[in-house]
Amino acid sequence: MAIREWKKFLIPYEQGVEELKVKFRSIRREYRRKNDYSPIEFVTGRVKEISSILEKANKFGIPLDKIEFEMEDIAGIRIMCQFVDDIDKVVNLIRERQDMQIVYEKDYIANVKDSGYRSYHMIIKYPVNLAAGKTEILAEFQIRTLAMNFWATVEHSLNYKYKHDIPEYIRNKLKNAADAAFQLDEQMLEIKDEIKDAQKLFEVKSNLVSDIMNNILMLSSLGKLVDAASYREKLKKLLEEGEVFELSSLLRATQKTVDMYGS
Ligand code: GTP
Ligand code: MG
Repeated sequence: MAIREWKKFLIPYEQGVEELKVKFRSIRREYRRKNDYSPIEFVTGRVKEISSILEKANKFGIPLDKIEFEMEDIAGIRIMCQFVDDIDKVVNLIRERQDMQIVYEKDYIANVKDSGYRSYHMIIKYPVNLAAGKTEILAEFQIRTLAMNFWATVEHSLNYKYKHDIPEYIRNKLKNAADAAFQLDEQMLEIKDEIKDAQKLFEVKSNLVSDIMNNILMLSSLGKLVDAASYREKLKKLLEEGEVFELSSLLRATQKTVDMYGS
């Protein structure tokens, strides 16, 4: 295939990856908006490089006119989670979706690879609508924790550096690191509730602070500069150590003043 044809071949994959990134980032945003904990921490996506497609096709003996059906990871989406049990939630979320169809799943968390690699993989079929009409692509989801992602990224770069011939002593270190990543995931799971609480609290506080600031701005624009300055001073004091109830009562006070002058 000439480069021009490759570019044309990859159009639906690029479209698909962009759409899937948007869709899964929106899920995260939706949780955050509702002040809920999101099982999705962040999402990345990529279309496989032409050189990597060729390399892989060569390695697995896939004829070029079949890569569309036989190479499942030309479109790749990674979903990172904070905690191991978030992965199940994301997997179920994907299973429930009407806009994609699961082809198969591979659980490298229950079945850790010899390398030490852990992740949950799902291969899906995804319809893409182009100017030229509707087509369907295959895409690979890799769902993993931050610790799994850290390990896989490091291992990937080492494989790249050593051309898949990692020296024994580094391989051993990688095995240890995989154990450490696993331990970290386990320990994080044990204190999950506390971490979630702290993060939720942070959300709640930052929402309160932003509502208070809006009210202060409102008062300034209403010309109530003395009130605005006094509330600003109070907010400043609460910013560092203020408890939720103190911020709430300041919000109520500012709201009352805004209502008094505003209406
Ligand atoms: P691929 O040729 O990579 O597609 O292998 P496969 O068809 O047997 O699929 P598999 O599910 O094993 O791997 C798919 C993808 O998972 C790879 O392209 C990598 O992104 C990732 N992966 C699998 N094993 C490893 C590993 O040992 N280390 C790292 N860093 N990534 C891995
Ligand atoms: Mg594969």
